Amino acid sequence: MAELPVIIAPDPRLKKKSARVETVDDSVREKLDAMLETMYARDGIGLAGPQVDIHQALVVCDIAREGESAHPVRLVNPEVVWASDEQATNEEGCLSLPDQYAEVTRPARVRVEYRDETGTAQAMDADGLLATALQHEIDHLFGRLFVDHLSKVKRNMILRRLSKERRQKGAA
Ligand code: NI
Repeated sequence: MAELPVIIAPDPRLKKKSARVETVDDSVREKLDAMLETMYARDGIGLAGPQVDIHQALVVCDIAREGESAHPVRLVNPEVVWASDEQATNEEGCLSLPDQYAEVTRPARVRVEYRDETGTAQAMDADGLLATALQHEIDHLFGRLFVDHLSKVKRNMILRRLSKERRQKGAA
């Protein structure tokens, strides 16, 4: 499997809830690898299944900065099992909302349980950018985008801008 097309919002496929993965097999590992390839090709730091029309609870992420060595993480059935009361506000973007950014407030620290690509149960304590990225990606599995954390006015402004761009591209 190679690079996959990324679904751009607004699109009903981004609103679908992902199914849990029962067995971590080769087909799941292939999907995770294709998701990583897609994410790296587009300079993303995270990608969730629904964004590439895979409606399974799969997330990939790599928050290594430019110049740092790659640190790909593959998460199957990731779940936030604890979140701090402390909140943090960070600017977020999304490969499904190209060139759109907004400040989003979320718990500053989370604990995420998941299965790795071998099917082994794992847990990860995250803060900073990783905490933001994991919560953002896990949201995708529930059909939630970062704009769903914004006021209706801000959300509609961003989604309208994307629809307009799509129409203009379609007409070109
Ligand atoms: Ni996203």
